Amino acid sequence: MGKKICVIGGGRWGQNHIRTLFQIGNLAGIVETNQQRLEELLEPYPVKGFTELDDAIQQGFDGYILATPAETHYPVGKKLLEKGLNVLIEKPMALSSEHSRHLVELAGQTGARLMVGHLLLFHPAIKKIKEVIKSGKIGRLYYIYSTRLNLGTVRTEENVFWSFAPHDISILDYFIGRPATKIEAKGAKFLQDKIYDVTIAQFTYPGNVHAHIFVSWLHPFKEQRLVVVGSQGMVSFDDSSLDKNILYYNKHIDWVEGKPVKVEQPDEIIVYDKAMPLTEELKYFVNNLDQKIEFASGKTGHEVVKVLETVQELISKNE
Ligand SMILES: NC(=O)c1ccc[n+]([C@@H]2O[C@H](COP(=O)([O-])OP(=O)(O)OC[C@H]3O[C@@H](n4cnc5c(N)ncnc54)[C@H](O)[C@@H]3O)[C@@H](O)[C@H]2O)c1
Repeated sequence: MGKKICVIGGGRWGQNHIRTLFQIGNLAGIVETNQQRLEELLEPYPVKGFTELDDAIQQGFDGYILATPAETHYPVGKKLLEKGLNVLIEKPMALSSEHSRHLVELAGQTGARLMVGHLLLFHPAIKKIKEVIKSGKIGRLYYIYSTRLNLGTVRTEENVFWSFAPHDISILDYFIGRPATKIEAKGAKFLQDKIYDVTIAQFTYPGNVHAHIFVSWLHPFKEQRLVVVGSQGMVSFDDSSLDKNILYYNKHIDWVEGKPVKVEQPDEIIVYDKAMPLTEELKYFVNNLDQKIEFASGKTGHEVVKVLETVQELISKNE
């Protein structure tokens, strides 16, 4: 075995880390506070199991994946980073920018590698769309929107924006490459007193680039759609579709004798590599433990938390 990785938290998402690390040959331990759940996980994955994090730390693993609920990310992440231990923290990295900043500072002080589970940055379709934008095929970037809609998973600690939108924010940061200069947001609560179920946030960037993110866990069907509109062409991708095609629409508006005229050529499917994002993410973590983590780093995670916090404040203010 190469690097030995221990997964902390074997719930709905943690089990995917466990399975994927096992497949790539790097799963060495599981920490799960629920003894019964731990036993269930150790059956198909016969590695070292712990109910106490301290016992796992004693084993000296090469890296840890923190896939516990969001409110535990800061205390558990802090404990690992203070000891100089490498960690990939699931999104959202922390529940406040004060905490995410502190985690980045700790990693800097102890030299530990810190990565954040911004999975979609490892999605081959997202990488391909970034290439398309960079190549100039769509012309000047005008507008991006991202919708992440589904029925559940409803959380009781963080609202839908904190739960779903870290992915969309990380994509906007990756595509646009600079922070928004203005953010506006609204939200609505139906199921719980203090937790928003539906939010919409709008972003203005320098150079007249705009974007919005619409997320809801109270929606009849799953939709994870990304649309990028440029001056010469447009791109769409729905990660919840069966074919997961990236569509290029050769469409734009021209001005002819002062009048707007539609220009429409046939659409194209943009071919891309169909690698699994989680496998790519975990391989990157494992392969960079001895080097620098430059992609989906702690700093990226902190930038995302800052946007989450701003949107949260705006939603509460606009209520
Ligand atoms: N990157 C992604 O695409 C993605 C997708 C889904 C969830 N997530 C994130 O993954 C994290 C976990 O989400 P989930 O849906 O798996 O939650 P979950 O509630 O299903 O599972 C959490 C598990 O962690 C265990 N646990 C809690 N505290 C622990 C501790 N201190 N030590 C060890 N085990 C502990 C619980 O017993 C439970 O089994 C969240 O931060 C969530 O936002 C990321």
